[in-house]
Amino acid sequence: MPSISQKGLRMPESPIRKLVPFAERAKKEGKYVYHLNIGQPDIKTPEVALKAVKNSKIDVLAYSSSNGSETYRKKLSNYYKKHDIDISSDDLIVTTGASEGLLFLFSSILDPGDEVIISEPFYANYIAFSTATGVDVVPVVCNIDDNFALPPIEHYEQLITAKTKAILICNPGNPTGYLYTEFEIKQLAALAIKYDLFFVADEVYREFVYDNQKHISILNLPGLKEHAIVIDSVSKRYSMCGARIGCLVSKNKEVIQTALKFAQARLSPPTLAQIASEAALETPQSYFDAVIEEYVDRRNTLIQELQKIEGVKVAKPKGAFYCIAELPIKNADAFAQWLLEDFDINKETVMVAPAAGFYSTPNVGLNQVRIAYVLKKESLIKAVNILKEALKIYKD
Ligand SMILES: Cc1ncc(COP(=O)(O)O)c(C=O)c1O
Repeated sequence: MPSISQKGLRMPESPIRKLVPFAERAKKEGKYVYHLNIGQPDIKTPEVALKAVKNSKIDVLAYSSSNGSETYRKKLSNYYKKHDIDISSDDLIVTTGASEGLLFLFSSILDPGDEVIISEPFYANYIAFSTATGVDVVPVVCNIDDNFALPPIEHYEQLITAKTKAILICNPGNPTGYLYTEFEIKQLAALAIKYDLFFVADEVYREFVYDNQKHISILNLPGLKEHAIVIDSVSKRYSMCGARIGCLVSKNKEVIQTALKFAQARLSPPTLAQIASEAALETPQSYFDAVIEEYVDRRNTLIQELQKIEGVKVAKPKGAFYCIAELPIKNADAFAQWLLEDFDINKETVMVAPAAGFYSTPNVGLNQVRIAYVLKKESLIKAVNILKEALKIYKD
């Protein structure tokens, strides 16, 4: 039989999706599963975006330009200007989700064997993209006891080698919900400048910032023109995960020119979804105000309920819609599977994402899970109660 690639063998399974067959079986057995495992918001997509698609009078669903439709790119640059980020329509490439932006990023700035330093736990697909491109991820472990704040900057500096090409952060963070302070961002920026590294920020959760805190984009910092690259997306911002539209943003012309070559190879981002995304930029502020209020309420409920469970430790998120919880168990993988296979309360159970898949350091986070608060408050309360009862009887 012909053999598949070593790279293919090394590709990690998604920690979020690998329990899906167990969830499917539980559902077939008549159980209701509360999905705390996946970042698919239940929030409605803005009307303006859906209407634009419904009302579009297209005769031919043609390719757009490889870097995205010009009207969309121009309006996107205005969106950034509103966030005090001085970006022109030529400083960005529209991608098929942030996912493709990440793939273009890894392909454009990193060669096989190059190293990228990432604070962990991190968005699990960073490992997938690094594996696909032969890049080595060098993790810096952040701690639940510090709410996953940036560790001392020396921890980063001591990891820099001749192979280091970039530092990557996710801000606000998936899976931690951590929001970097201006001081922390500036420390990382100084390091990027000192060692001439790219400084990449995945800012797909930019709008999801709570408690009157301010999101600091790396594109706002002075002196980073050649270093800063931002990965962005409409998926969470407008609850448009299925649109598959994102972008890669940088003032570094070489980065954009190189990413464009990868963009040309895949011809074009989706045309209809760009129409929806362009219209989504007209979404009124009231939409975001309501969404943020909803997430804050859910976060507060979730944290409060989790803290009531004996032996559970939880880091309070300041942004995005995830948190990491440490459970009084040894192996969250086995626990998550057991919840789906062997536990229910009145035919209801929960699905969580074991957190080890968000770390690349072996044996870290084994007793942690990521919980996404993308369900209504009432469902969150029920789901956490199921967790509580399950933990009372679970034996590792
Ligand atoms: C941090 C982060 N980056 C990137 C992505 C991918 O987003 P997209 O749907 O735009 O591909 C996600 C999706 O959950 C994410 O959480």
